[in-house]
Amino acid sequence: MRSLILQLWSIVLFAGCRVMASNICTSRGGSTCKQCLATHPSCAWCFQEDFGRQPSSIPRCDLREKLLAAGCAKGNMEFPVSDLVYEENKPLSSRITTNVIQMQPQKIRVTLRPDDSKRFTVTVRQVEDYPVDLYYLMDLSYSMIDDLSSLYVLGDELARSMGQITSNLQMGFGAFVDKPMSPYMYLTPPQALKNPCYSMGRTCLPQFGYKHVLPLTDQVQRFAEEVKKQDVSRNRDAPEGGFDAIIQATVCKDQIGWRPEASHLLVFTTDDKTHSAMDGRLAGLVQPNDGKCHLGLNNEYNMSTILDYPSVAMLVEKLSENNINLILAVTKRVVDHYQNYSNLIPGSVVGRLSDDSSNIIDLVKNAYMRIRSKVELELQGLPEELAISFNASCTNGQFPGLKSCAGLTVGDTVSFSVELQARGCPAEKTKTFTLKPIGFRDALQVAVNFECDCGCQKLAQPDSPVCSQGNGTYECGVCQCLPGRLGPHCECAQDQYKATSQDDCSAKPGEPVCSGRGDCMCGQCSCYSRGYGNIYGQYCQCDDVSCPLYKGKLCSGNGACDCGRCLCNQGWTGENCNCSMLTDNCMSNTGLLCSGYGQCVCGTCQCTQPGAYGSTCERCPTCPDACTLKKECVECKNFKRGSFYDDSSCSHICRDDLELVEELTFQKNSVNCSYKDEYACVVHFQYGDVNGISILSVIKDLECAEGPNILVVLALVAGAIFLLGLVLLLIWKLLITIHDRREFKKFEEERAKAKWDTGNNPLYKGATSTFTNVTFGGSSE
Ligand SMILES: *[C@@H]1O[C@H](CO)[C@@H](O)[C@H](O)[C@H]1NC(C)=O
Ligand SMILES: *[C@@H]1O[C@H](CO)[C@@H](O)[C@H](O)[C@H]1NC(C)=O
Ligand SMILES: *[C@@H]1O[C@H](CO)[C@@H](O)[C@H](O)[C@H]1NC(C)=O
Ligand SMILES: *[C@@H]1O[C@H](CO)[C@@H](O)[C@H](O)[C@H]1NC(C)=O
Ligand SMILES: *[C@@H]1O[C@H](CO)[C@@H](O)[C@H](O)[C@H]1NC(C)=O
Ligand SMILES: *[C@@H]1O[C@H](CO)[C@@H](O)[C@H](O)[C@H]1NC(C)=O
Repeated sequence: MRSLILQLWSIVLFAGCRVMASNICTSRGGSTCKQCLATHPSCAWCFQEDFGRQPSSIPRCDLREKLLAAGCAKGNMEFPVSDLVYEENKPLSSRITTNVIQMQPQKIRVTLRPDDSKRFTVTVRQVEDYPVDLYYLMDLSYSMIDDLSSLYVLGDELARSMGQITSNLQMGFGAFVDKPMSPYMYLTPPQALKNPCYSMGRTCLPQFGYKHVLPLTDQVQRFAEEVKKQDVSRNRDAPEGGFDAIIQATVCKDQIGWRPEASHLLVFTTDDKTHSAMDGRLAGLVQPNDGKCHLGLNNEYNMSTILDYPSVAMLVEKLSENNINLILAVTKRVVDHYQNYSNLIPGSVVGRLSDDSSNIIDLVKNAYMRIRSKVELELQGLPEELAISFNASCTNGQFPGLKSCAGLTVGDTVSFSVELQARGCPAEKTKTFTLKPIGFRDALQVAVNFECDCGCQKLAQPDSPVCSQGNGTYECGVCQCLPGRLGPHCECAQDQYKATSQDDCSAKPGEPVCSGRGDCMCGQCSCYSRGYGNIYGQYCQCDDVSCPLYKGKLCSGNGACDCGRCLCNQGWTGENCNCSMLTDNCMSNTGLLCSGYGQCVCGTCQCTQPGAYGSTCERCPTCPDACTLKKECVECKNFKRGSFYDDSSCSHICRDDLELVEELTFQKNSVNCSYKDEYACVVHFQYGDVNGISILSVIKDLECAEGPNILVVLALVAGAIFLLGLVLLLIWKLLITIHDRREFKKFEEERAKAKWDTGNNPLYKGATSTFTNVTFGGSSE
């Protein structure tokens, strides 16, 4: 019984599949031109009046070629195509000119059908010697007194040092303390109003909110002059009112003098925490900050005691609007505090200021380099009907899903592939948005035309004679019937229908009418609505539930089921939509996809390097580790030696920031490394990653072990060789002696033998002869 049901079900599915094999336009195309265009970008609609009458089953919504083949004239078809037009596409500048272009293209117009997508490429290159505007915003609360005296000295040098980076520099200066009101201010004794340092027996300036001192000027020596005229003030609570000052310095463009074509750096120095939105309530300020410029008399912020402090969100908005990069130069104690703010503010960096600001020059220079080493795109005013995705091509590889590149040097070109997809139809036909690299003036304007409507809709005839004497509107070749009327020409009334021509209700003669899942009314299928899913299609052959399941969910819960096929949501792919296209989870702490040891497949890492494991392949005891990899970079960058230095590949391979430190501190996402160099000195360094920029912190002082005295070693070695030679010589002498002795003995023996032998000399004849007288018997002498 069970198998029989299964068999029947598979027959139904099979029949459904065969019809479905037609295409998505015919199955889901709907009954109006607008619905048809929204179904799929490949669908076209034929509004030719006499199209499809005989046989009446030919659908008006179909693939373009099918409609042409079925006899629809080209001019009678609605088939808008998605398109992309470059309206402004000037090439990137390679050097400074009057009108520098750092982003290409500059203006495009995209035409998109619902659900369709278009791809384009954006390239960004930072031009060398770009003009720089640097505005120095200084905390002048009492504790900054030593910082101010440092700046008296370093002001000139800062200007000179920045002047090396760019030949087109403007500098300006402003100062802040906090809102001049209780409880932030000293009110007693009465003299403290004029001189808050009165109780300390000193004179200092009355407390002020924010004061703009020196507008940006190219006479950079004036910076030092103005700084020398400054004095500190004193406020009561620890946090300062710096956010007020940041907003004013950002939005008062005319007074500050930000040049539209320059790179904007706002250096914010402080040694304490800051007040932000809602803190003003302590002083009874309930009016939120309006983010507008309020510089009054003497260039002072004159709404300081009226408006609350600004929120971080407002800072983000205003800084981005004005292309300002914020450099938070803060003392060690509050670095974490400001790092948390910086994480929320795109294009900002934090630098650690020494207690008396003596490292300000390096800090500003490094921060500027760090800012310029990263390109990140930001979107402004993206319409919600658009989905957008990016792939980055950076100098160090391809990063799917990312819209930023790090580790760049000025002059590098990077590109981003951008894909736009229309997800719906807005009320307006055209919407625009902006894509720009953070901190750049350059931007790409994108205008999107949503092709949601059919041109033929404009020619609709209400109460048309074609639709049974005014029982419907004739639009795009079909009748939109009045309620209660049915049929291609609204010819039958719903309450008096009879199953007339059953043939129009089955895909092939002999097959069940409306796939057995609907009624045939006036030659059209009216599908049953059941509890478990929609039934639809011309012959009710489609439903929403016969799609691949994954983990018990239809299309993994990441897509819609369309007539047996999953239509995946944005960011998902695969037959059952279980494969994520996001790469966020594959990004390791070092900023590399799968730590460079694997591939990101469906949003998870598949480690390819033997021995690598972990969710981002970050664990790999047998791989060349970060310390080994970075050792060569420390060698070449810091010591100007090693293999990378020899083949001049250092700047190419080692795109890390290098800083010399007294000691290593704990940093997130970092490893401590050490190695012994060729002079047997131990080099300690730390390899870390801050917002995607890798930093090598090298301890200044090397640990060099006292090596053994080289002369002693030489003497010892020489002595050892001498001794060994002597021993060998002696042994040889001994052997020779033994050998000699033996030879001599042998000779003596021989000689002895020779002496004895002479008795038997064959030439010798004894003096005695013996004769035998044979005639005489016996012998005689
Ligand atoms: C602040 O100064 C501006 C410009 O001088 C002026 O228009 C405004 O009225 C002043 N506001 C207050 C509260 O003094
Ligand atoms: C910064 O943020 C981290 C994580 O959200 C938090 O643990 C830490 O306390 C914050 N630090 C400061 C100084 O606010
Ligand atoms: C990004 O790359 C992935 C895989 O290489 C590709 O499937 C996707 O279409 C690309 N997206 C864009 C916007 O280029
Ligand atoms: C609808 O059609 C019927 C018969 O075909 C006709 O009698 C009636 O007048 C029409 N209704 C309208 C509103 O024109
Ligand atoms: C997706 O589903 C297929 C088929 O069920 C399965 O083989 C695959 O492992 C799944 N992939 C993920 C990433 O879950
Ligand atoms: C690196 O060394 C410093 C100083 O010894 C220490 O504070 C820090 O925790 C170490 N970092 C790691 C990741 O071990």
